[in-house]
Amino acid sequence: MRVRGHFMDINKFSPKFKVSSPNLINLSRLTTEDIFEYLYAAKALKTKYRAGENPALLKHKTIALLFGNVSTRTRISFEMGIRQLGGDFLFLPKGETQLSRGESIRDTAAMFKRYGFSALILRAFSTEEIETFAKYSGLPVINGISENAHPLQILSDLFTIWEHKGKLENLKLAYIGDGNNIANTLLMGCAKCDMNITLASPNNYRPSESMLERAMQYADIQLTSDVREAVQNADIVYTDVFISMGDAESEEKKRVLRRYRVTEELMSLAKPDALFMHCMPVHRGEEVTEEVLDGPQSIVYEQAENRLHLNKAALALLVK
Ligand code: CP
Ligand code: NVA
Repeated sequence: MRVRGHFMDINKFSPKFKVSSPNLINLSRLTTEDIFEYLYAAKALKTKYRAGENPALLKHKTIALLFGNVSTRTRISFEMGIRQLGGDFLFLPKGETQLSRGESIRDTAAMFKRYGFSALILRAFSTEEIETFAKYSGLPVINGISENAHPLQILSDLFTIWEHKGKLENLKLAYIGDGNNIANTLLMGCAKCDMNITLASPNNYRPSESMLERAMQYADIQLTSDVREAVQNADIVYTDVFISMGDAESEEKKRVLRRYRVTEELMSLAKPDALFMHCMPVHRGEEVTEEVLDGPQSIVYEQAENRLHLNKAALALLVK
């Protein structure tokens, strides 16, 4: 059943700086209003940051970062963002906790509040595990990437698109490549903001059927294996690595995806003012050529910077 038809223009939205969900686990659970709240909060905090102001929103708060996999942007932008907002954090590599020796998530989660934490940021846990953390910790829980979702990245990317294009609705985003955690989350984020999405992925590497079905309730989504067709009339061309966290290394997968590399020639088929986006880290020359990555249409470093502002917004909205 199609639930679209009530879409709002983000520029006419009046933020209340409140969200309806106490956690940020994936975008399927957020309303369009919630998404806009995160984007407006990021905008406000970025404006303040640029003016040299850092509101002490996290004074006397300590945030736990429990990571089961490596990270550059997510970890750094949270650690710096928390400092800038006057708070404190503890970085906990999962492998150095008793979780790595079989202690249950339920027992681990139960002690975070008792030690005085105010929120929990998790990387490389399944949706079910994240929900268990939320249930037994009683704290706001933020997904810093799971096998099929990266909500912070996509909220941040929607913010970056809004900054560049001045709107979200009716823009066309073409995603080229593996139907991974980024593709799954982009589908839902763009669909809920009334954007048009075309996905060019090989048949065996498409996003999950359930995510496609859910996103199709909100927007028209085109699926193709033809990259040239996908980028026609696109305002944004987005790609990501061929092998994601948790995926097995596969030469066969890389071989199949080679046809899905973003090149200058492919970019020339999109709109002349199309943006090139990538969540990073990039495998230079593999999923995108260096000419595109370092070229004038690329906004990848701005995307990376905006993770700082969006992460701060997430904490500002969720931490009580
Ligand atoms: N984009 C992103 O989440 O980067 P990291 O894996 O470096 O955190
Ligand atoms: N799809 C990538 C995203 C990294 C932020 C991965 O999972 O490695």
